[in-house]
Amino acid sequence: MQLAWTRKVLAAVAAAAFVGVVAVPSTAKDPLPEGGASKQQEADLAFLKAAVEKKAKNSIDPVRTTAVLLAQSAQNQLGGAKDDELTGLRDQMIKLAEALDADKPDWAAAAKALEGAKGAKGDKKAKDLTKVKDFDISVLMNVYKKATRGGRGWEDDLIEMSQGKKPVTAERALELAQGSHLVGQLAAAMPPDAKKKDWEKLSADMLKTSKEAADEAVKGDKADKAVLKKKLEAMAANCTACHNVFKH
Ligand code: HEC
Repeated sequence: MQLAWTRKVLAAVAAAAFVGVVAVPSTAKDPLPEGGASKQQEADLAFLKAAVEKKAKNSIDPVRTTAVLLAQSAQNQLGGAKDDELTGLRDQMIKLAEALDADKPDWAAAAKALEGAKGAKGDKKAKDLTKVKDFDISVLMNVYKKATRGGRGWEDDLIEMSQGKKPVTAERALELAQGSHLVGQLAAAMPPDAKKKDWEKLSADMLKTSKEAADEAVKGDKADKAVLKKKLEAMAANCTACHNVFKH
């Protein structure tokens, strides 16, 4: 039973990965560098696949956020020949996120949503992804948590690479910079009630610093590691600046 289920999910993920990796047209809408989105979506799907198989309680928020980031990425690319697939992927990811209630996560429904990403056709309308059920800034930020705590380990890697404690790799930098740009898009649309001006500036800085890092990282083997390290430092400084004002 367990094995059959796992096999089913693996097949589904391979299928979903196909949608994500192949169907990425470049449009003027996506501010991220061309070629970055497909790699990001691949990393997102790999994380989702492993986490949905494991069904760990501490990865519920990182899984929900990853699904929303993937939906955002798909939505950013609308306006080309692949809109049916992209809106389909987006809508399945919304389903996946909404299947996982913190107290009563429906992992089977989550697996089904992932499986259904292949060939799904979505609603052509743009959707406000900050309106996903029970989604808020704390759920969003959980994606940065340590891998050992169910997260994607992006914060640790960002800090360690930017401080020279870990070698800078273009691949990992691309994943966390692209991911952070999507986080920034959502954060910008989720201002708190107080200090809105500060939020506006700090989330705009998040978009700027993460885009600059992604632009360098997407060069892959040709990326300048020293330049990339500086870009990661700027990203890390932005995280701290916002947390100093808003995280208590
Ligand atoms: C625009 C403001 C803003 C920016 C920029 C920002 N954060 Fe946050 N972050 C917050 C807020 C607000 C919280 C507290 C959320 C809560 O729990 O209510 C938070 C919480 C967190 C948490 C704790 C999550 C948890 O609950 O365990 C982590 C980890 C984190 N942020 C990582 C990052 C990293 C890494 C970056 C930079 C790449 C970043 N943040 C950038 C506003 C921001």
